[in-house]
Amino acid sequence: MRLSKYFLPVLKETPAEAQIASHRLMLRAGMIKQASAGIYSWLPLGFKVLRKLENIVHEEQVRAGHIPMLMPTLQSADLWRESGRYDAYGPEMLRIRDRQDRDMLYGPTNEELITDIFRSHVGSYRDLPLTLYHIQWKFRDEIRPRFGVMRGREFFMKDGYNFDLTKEDALHAYNRHLVSYLRTYERMGLQAIPMRADSGPIGGDDTHEFLVLAETGESEVFYDSEITDLKFGDREIDYADKAQCQAVLEEFTSRYARTDETHDAAIFNQIPEERRRVARGIEVGQIFYFGTKYSDPMGATVQGPDGKPVAVHMGSHGIGVSRLVGAIIEASHDDKGIIWPEGVTPFHAGIVNLKQGDGEADAACEKLYSALKAKGLDPLYDDRDERAGGKFATMDLIGLPWRITVGPRGLKNGVVELTSRRTGESEEMAPEAAVEKIAEIYAPHRGEAGTVEPMADRSFHTWM
Ligand SMILES: Nc1ncnc2c1ncn2[C@@H]1O[C@H](COP(=O)(O)OP(=O)(O)OP(=O)(O)O)[C@@H](O)[C@H]1O
Ligand SMILES: [Mg+2]
Repeated sequence: MRLSKYFLPVLKETPAEAQIASHRLMLRAGMIKQASAGIYSWLPLGFKVLRKLENIVHEEQVRAGHIPMLMPTLQSADLWRESGRYDAYGPEMLRIRDRQDRDMLYGPTNEELITDIFRSHVGSYRDLPLTLYHIQWKFRDEIRPRFGVMRGREFFMKDGYNFDLTKEDALHAYNRHLVSYLRTYERMGLQAIPMRADSGPIGGDDTHEFLVLAETGESEVFYDSEITDLKFGDREIDYADKAQCQAVLEEFTSRYARTDETHDAAIFNQIPEERRRVARGIEVGQIFYFGTKYSDPMGATVQGPDGKPVAVHMGSHGIGVSRLVGAIIEASHDDKGIIWPEGVTPFHAGIVNLKQGDGEADAACEKLYSALKAKGLDPLYDDRDERAGGKFATMDLIGLPWRITVGPRGLKNGVVELTSRRTGESEEMAPEAAVEKIAEIYAPHRGEAGTVEPMADRSFHTWM
């Protein structure tokens, strides 16, 4: 992409309404525009990041054996009356009446809809285990939408639902979700800690929230500092192997880590004092096992091995995809702007031409641009007729992890400058060497194109 042809409405002034860094930076970097309270348009740069996160979520869910689909945003109230949640849910639910006077709602979550799909089509234990998921907009009429996309009213969420014959199988599904979530957040450059949580209106006993530590987080968290040393890394995992998934759960949840809702000072105080941490965190996901809470009232049964009907054991598992864009920025920014982790950056590298219109500099930039594209990389070339200072400020603000600076002086010596946004360190090298180095940096971050149907297949990657 050439910046002169892109739509990047960068703001010079800091918007007064934004209280936290991620909200300010998303507005300033032209990623989002508020449409109404808690509802945002995703401008091109923000949309790119959102799609990258969506893609990572798809890849990791499919890897875990879960099946993508898509349910609508609008749902019929009748299903929610069956589960008893139509009245229970409260004013967060946006209730709508259509022209036939039917009660509808904008889905805040999808347990009822998926249970209805399941009971209509699945009749035998032989069809289990089954985990279906989608990534779709949700609406919750939050009393206090704030912090931009972090607490929106309309937000983009992955929600997955497992259907199993026994509690044991359903807990394996729970563990698979925990493992896949650890992988997902690490690929996004984040550490999200599973913490014991409260189940709220979804219901159930077993539940963990995933929290990213950040001063601006809305949840108070209490944890054993040893937990932050745990990394999932690039270990291989067989998602069908119950013992392996259970071992990961134990590894990541055996140390004390709880939100204020479940915090127990007596247990916490048994940890050596120097390891006790009280901090704040952003909830970026939650997993639940809730047994037959929905399958019982809604009649979602299968015929068991003995021919008798059994209510299926279920769980639901969510990732806040749009909130994650803000959470990543909270975790990774400085005074000058965003610092994208390589796994989610909207463009892989920026090219800054210090002397637009200079034949040699222009030609060198064009050559770099096509060489990066030939490597399958996605560069952003600042080809505007602007001063160097302004170009650097824009690049720093939008946070591309790598910048190549091209100017007539360097070119005389056959070099360009490669700068890391994170460290600020620069290195001079031949243009070809810069291209090689960037390609190498991104090698581990290439998506597994073709594994995800249909939203994130190969063609989807190419048009990005
Ligand atoms: N209003 C919102 N805006 C953006 N993301 C949200 C919002 N509410 C929930 N999410 C995201 O969706 C994920 C799954 O939804 P879940 O039902 O667990 O939310 P929740 O526990 O009600 O969230 P919270 O406690 O923050 O209100 C959450 O972990 C969070 O990342
Ligand atoms: Mg939650």
